[in-house]
Amino acid sequence: MKHILITGVCGQIGTELVRKLRKELPNALILATDIKTPPSSVLSFADFELLDVCDTQAVQSIIQKNQIDTVYHLAALLSATGERHPALAWRVNLTAFFDLLEISRNHNVKMVIMPSSIGAFGPTTPRDNTPNLTIMRPTTMYGITKVTGELLMEYYYLKFGLDCRGMRFPGIISSETEPGGGTTDFAVDFYYKAVQNQAATCFVREDTILPFMYMPDAIDVLWELAIADSNRLSTRIYNVTAFSASAKDFENAIVKKILNFKVDYQPDYRQQIADSWPRSLDDSLARNDWGWNPKFDLEKMTIDMIKNLRLKLG
Ligand code: SER
Repeated sequence: MKHILITGVCGQIGTELVRKLRKELPNALILATDIKTPPSSVLSFADFELLDVCDTQAVQSIIQKNQIDTVYHLAALLSATGERHPALAWRVNLTAFFDLLEISRNHNVKMVIMPSSIGAFGPTTPRDNTPNLTIMRPTTMYGITKVTGELLMEYYYLKFGLDCRGMRFPGIISSETEPGGGTTDFAVDFYYKAVQNQAATCFVREDTILPFMYMPDAIDVLWELAIADSNRLSTRIYNVTAFSASAKDFENAIVKKILNFKVDYQPDYRQQIADSWPRSLDDSLARNDWGWNPKFDLEKMTIDMIKNLRLKLG
């Protein structure tokens, strides 16, 4: 029986990952944790304990007490929040992660899965079809913590045999839990505003192109990479993407379904962050090594998002 720990379960990914894990592993111990109480949906799929990932003693005790063998480490500050609170971003995204890796190798954890991000790239990275292995000199604190986290994962794998696996997610869009403090959040906001017949204000220019993915695909990435045969993995960290779109592409896709939707473009400090990230990713390594294949493009996702949000928001 698997003993799984999830940190940061209240975030955009965690609230949906628990459902998938419970479905795939009906008998597993799934211990979800966060610094705040989760929505009731989480409690129906997993046990829950309050946990501050910066409290190393508490992390160690939870791992020991529950004989955890697999960790999904989702607790993190996103890019825009990280720019406002760089020291906190370093502590949560990196110091806590380093401590978690140390605890993991000392207490029989077999696998650690941590999402990385397009934020791990920087302005000197080739921006189109960005390769898996390329220049990585991010200029945000978020990016610095992510690229360092990636290096630590490779190190703990090579040095201690800890099975660390990570994926560089693009902007993730979902109808269930709203993201908080990310640079790609504008795209999610468009859908919420459109369904409520409101105009959106967008904090990046309309020609800003970034890679994206719909949450059901992101959940598949987390699951499929975790169960992939280790012998088939040629790296520890994989680029993954579904489609690239500009802010205007999102507006146009929504207008096809909700005719009166309008967007007011008012770029702020987040424009600079977006401009330092890839426009598109080469994820052929993920496709070849473990069969990654997204199911949703912009149009299909838009139909599903609008349907789900109409049900949710009434
Ligand atoms: N979506 C995240 C952000 O915008 C990047 O991984 O911060």
